[in-house]
Amino acid sequence: MAFDIDMIKGVYASMGERVDKARELVGKPLTLSEKILYSHLWDGMPTKEFIRGKDYVDFAPDRIACQDATAQMALLQFMQAGKDKVAVPTTVHCDHLIQAKDGAASDLKHANETSKEVFDFLGSVSNKYGIGFWKPGAGIIHQVVLENYAFPGGMMIGTDSHTVNAGGLGMVAIGVGGADAVDVMAGMAWELKFPKLIGVKLTGKLSGWTAPKDVILKVAEILTVKGGTGAIVEYFGPGATSMSCTGKGTICNMGAEIGATTSTFGYDESMERYLRATDREDVADAANKVKEHLTADPEVYANPEDYFDQVIEINLTELKPLLNGPFTPDLATEVGTMTDKANENGWPLAVEWGLIGSCTNSSYEDLSRASSIAQQALDKKLKTKAEFGINPGSEQVRYTTERDGILEIFEKLDATIFTNACGPCIGQWARYKDPKNAPKNSIVHSFNRNFAKRADGNPNTHAFVASPEMTAAIAIAGRLDFNPLTDKLINEDGEEVMLDEPTGWELPPKGFEVKENGYVDPVEDGSGVEVIVAPDSERLQLLEPFEPMTPESLQGMKLLIKAFGKCTTDHISMAGPWLRFRGHLDNIANNTLIGAVNAFNQKTNFVKNQLTGQYEGVPDAQRAYKKAGIKTIVVGDHNYGEGSSREHAAMQPRHLGVAAVLVKSFARIHETNLKKQGMLALTFANENDYDLIQEDDTFNFVDIDAFAPDKPLTIEIVHADGSKDTIKANHSYNLAQIKWFNEGSALNLIKKENA
Ligand code: F3S
Repeated sequence: MAFDIDMIKGVYASMGERVDKARELVGKPLTLSEKILYSHLWDGMPTKEFIRGKDYVDFAPDRIACQDATAQMALLQFMQAGKDKVAVPTTVHCDHLIQAKDGAASDLKHANETSKEVFDFLGSVSNKYGIGFWKPGAGIIHQVVLENYAFPGGMMIGTDSHTVNAGGLGMVAIGVGGADAVDVMAGMAWELKFPKLIGVKLTGKLSGWTAPKDVILKVAEILTVKGGTGAIVEYFGPGATSMSCTGKGTICNMGAEIGATTSTFGYDESMERYLRATDREDVADAANKVKEHLTADPEVYANPEDYFDQVIEINLTELKPLLNGPFTPDLATEVGTMTDKANENGWPLAVEWGLIGSCTNSSYEDLSRASSIAQQALDKKLKTKAEFGINPGSEQVRYTTERDGILEIFEKLDATIFTNACGPCIGQWARYKDPKNAPKNSIVHSFNRNFAKRADGNPNTHAFVASPEMTAAIAIAGRLDFNPLTDKLINEDGEEVMLDEPTGWELPPKGFEVKENGYVDPVEDGSGVEVIVAPDSERLQLLEPFEPMTPESLQGMKLLIKAFGKCTTDHISMAGPWLRFRGHLDNIANNTLIGAVNAFNQKTNFVKNQLTGQYEGVPDAQRAYKKAGIKTIVVGDHNYGEGSSREHAAMQPRHLGVAAVLVKSFARIHETNLKKQGMLALTFANENDYDLIQEDDTFNFVDIDAFAPDKPLTIEIVHADGSKDTIKANHSYNLAQIKWFNEGSALNLIKKENA
């Protein structure tokens, strides 16, 4: 099952009618983004206009994609839903857990040994529940999705922020947390705030050294890392249609770096060429029949200001190659103007590595254009100054580029060809023995993110983002301020030479080819498949359903922590070394709230255990309460739970016996995650009541029996001296969400309804 053509035809069959209805309701021509959104409503036919940036809307995505790090908890949860199969086509991709060190063959072998239990689990659970499984080495999730599953006009969610890459093939594809993916796998709707729309008009044409990467590096400079928040970025104009499909993918991919919900392009000939080249003639034929729905109405692109919330125009003919960084992807410097800036800021000018690949820039076109620069180093007798590392995006790209002699060019420059996987892009790069104390240095890569420590764990590595061809040129020169358009290099014979402009192929002239693509189709009937989890595993643990909370258990509750100030999902469930335990709830729970600041002593992970009067780590105190059968409450400040959508931040407290979280305000996704896990997510009716909470307090939920929508709950707070305060707590539970609470979790309810 490379792709599901019947599903795609089904989407197209209903699209026209739904788009027409939406146009009538909105009362004006529609953007492409609106066409896709309105044709994927959970209730089918649109019945009202949604207010951008305000209305929460239920959608019905066509597909789900999961990567190996986030899929673990998502699928462990899905197993709780009592379903035989996933409700929508889903794939799992093993790409994040493969460390880059010596090269593909030995690195892949090592990963298959060290993460065997995780891969075995993902393989078996995929097989059981009808999920397509891409083995380690098969490729990076977003390149594989673009090659196999993305389709114009479709809607996809994925448990990775760069799911947005599929916008290059005209999708609305959005990165989500595991809990959202589980809902959709289990047959529920997916909720999203109807996004605002940013239009980017591309005029002119790329040429010479300028690449699609430079378009998004420029957009990042204009909009900054927050400028796309809550919005879909829709690209259009003659510059858009002149770019390749994978180039569009690069631009959409890095939409994540400006905080955009997603980015997309209208269907055009480059997409048709890509679909046909990747063996999807029938998708191209089907798309051609509904072309008018796969791009905005013509009026929109003629007068974009009337239809988008913001419009940006970029002339590709005038665009210059950029180098963005270090430490943030929106800090742009034009190639050739780096010297003073680097010197002023203390950025090392010598470049030690040039890395080409990641889900952002690992297509056939990317590697062929970069190799045209690498070939010149050989032809012109240039000795490369920096080391090269290459991560092909998929086995199909790797096999085809090997067949066409592209990889050989890099190998002649002593490049290390890493596995078709994320590798250095996600810090899975064994560059140093002791990264924390490694020296200051600069690297250039064609990836998307360049935060401190992201690539190699070294806080002193200054990572700059550039196109693959510019990365190759800078790696050859070994200097950050090298400008291939103007600067000469000295070759082995002492002669001055210049690098010519890159050349390459959008698609392989002899077609794509692959022997073993690494895909495993699930069996038709998975009922007999056993999911493999070793009982003594420290990385994986099968989940037990959460017990519903009784009214009695919500009396005599103790305060676990009164968090002070910012408390993000990272403070609640830290990443870093804890990522290893993402599939083991009890083990990862040992990091619960260890980053939160205790309001009573301003320390982290240092709270009073009311049972002993001693101060200890938050998980230790909480485990003591759990052992004593006492439920607890977490109190917090504003925007509690902001940050990532990771469901661990709700599941861990729940697992350890926290019953309620009472805060001044919530980050919405975290609030929903708490509700899904059957907890009480509450806000102070009077914000100042936060100040009433003392370290030795006991809490009684006096009217929890009458828990109902729009009705605040009453909490009696008993202080250590016996005095009491009674406060009101607001909540946003609707009837369905109260059922989640009553059943112990949303998954318990799904299971019950399926029984
Ligand atoms: Fe992997 Fe980096 Fe993309 S981690 S999915 S290659 S952003």
